[in-house]
Amino acid sequence: MQHLRVEIEPSILSADFARLGEAAKEAEAAGVSGIQIDVMDGRFVPNINFGPGVVAALRPLVNITLDVHLMIIEPERYLETFAKAGADRIIVHQEASIHLHRALESINELGVEAGVTLNPGTSPTAIEEVLELADMVQVMGVNPGFGGQKFIHNQLEKIRYIKKMLDEQGIDIPIALDGGLDMTTAPLVVEAGATVLVAGSSVYNTKDSVANNVRALLQSIGS
Ligand code: DX5
Repeated sequence: MQHLRVEIEPSILSADFARLGEAAKEAEAAGVSGIQIDVMDGRFVPNINFGPGVVAALRPLVNITLDVHLMIIEPERYLETFAKAGADRIIVHQEASIHLHRALESINELGVEAGVTLNPGTSPTAIEEVLELADMVQVMGVNPGFGGQKFIHNQLEKIRYIKKMLDEQGIDIPIALDGGLDMTTAPLVVEAGATVLVAGSSVYNTKDSVANNVRALLQSIGS
């Protein structure tokens, strides 16, 4: 079954940190199926925020997918902690784990969906050997660490390449694009093959409501 339905997945990195619970509920009320929680350690990326406590605090508030994006070195140290905190999917960076294959196996063993993601400078061939262990592949549209950055257009070709690798391996899992998405870039990434659009500032950093921003993004891709 092809993944043709496109999902908007708000990234709470761009929400008001003083009202993360409300931001998660607003996303759920807007009809999205999940939110992305960006975990940063100040080492893998030059920013620090969100830990397992935030996942645990949000878990009882919403029924949507809590998608935990680990922008930390050696993510394998914290997989069980985030799974226990309530993560439904844990996304690790190919660049952050010496034993990526084992890290993805560990996530699977925890009964949590496994995502693998790549920085803009990383070739898609770097994940060719682990696609069978993943439930989602995430392409970074920006250099990780901050919201509100400009979309890096050459990542469109990476989406196409990953789609081709998945098709060749007979693997039917969604490709997410994370970062730099707005009503101009969203159609481009969907055309390239992404079906999960992780958006922060275009959902949370405008004068309009989360619901209207999600609707505007969906309309921009004809959904
Ligand atoms: C960046 C994060 C992205 C970011 C997206 O490190 O992984 O999820 O929050 O924010 P926008 O949509 O503002 O680029």
